[in-house]
Amino acid sequence: MDPHPHDVGIDTGMSVKERAEVVLHLKKILGDEYVLYTKLLKFHWNVNGPFFGPLHSLFQRFYEQSFENIDLVAERIRALGENTPGSLAEFSKLTCCITEHPGKYPEACYMLEEILHDMYSIIEHVREDEKKIEKLNDRVTSNMLLGLVEKREKEAWMTRAHLEKAAKPMAAKEVIKKNVKKIVAKKVTKKTK
Ligand SMILES: [Fe+2]
Repeated sequence: MDPHPHDVGIDTGMSVKERAEVVLHLKKILGDEYVLYTKLLKFHWNVNGPFFGPLHSLFQRFYEQSFENIDLVAERIRALGENTPGSLAEFSKLTCCITEHPGKYPEACYMLEEILHDMYSIIEHVREDEKKIEKLNDRVTSNMLLGLVEKREKEAWMTRAHLEKAAKPMAAKEVIKKNVKKIVAKKVTKKTK
């Protein structure tokens, strides 16, 4: 048989339903990553204070990593046979855990606090998605997501380290305590459900 040159199917060992479900998870992750990427650019451009140099560089390092994550997730969606969202309007709708604050320019330590909170949120969501995707017969995507979690955990550590030494060490300690309390509270709520 001579197949039509454009009639190229996808035969990667996953069913159409499995691929569609994986893509749904990936699109949400793409939305979260893109909104966080934008936020990191904003903080890179607008950070002020005595720690301007290291924080300007830190946010740049993070947004460059975010861009790599975005590209990885977007191209995985294409490999699974679907179109990738590619507009700010779509990313804003897709994000499920990153909130923007247009027109607000927090002090440096509160920028770090916000980024740390966002990173923990992404880590938590991606971990949940990874478990579901693993059950959908797609270890390639689940491995990719574990890699993403690993990178985010490293960045969270760097953010915490900067918070410890940032302009307001007392505020930083409160931030870390607050985040730990939030995570513990979430876990307790989940267990009691
Ligand atoms: Fe720059």
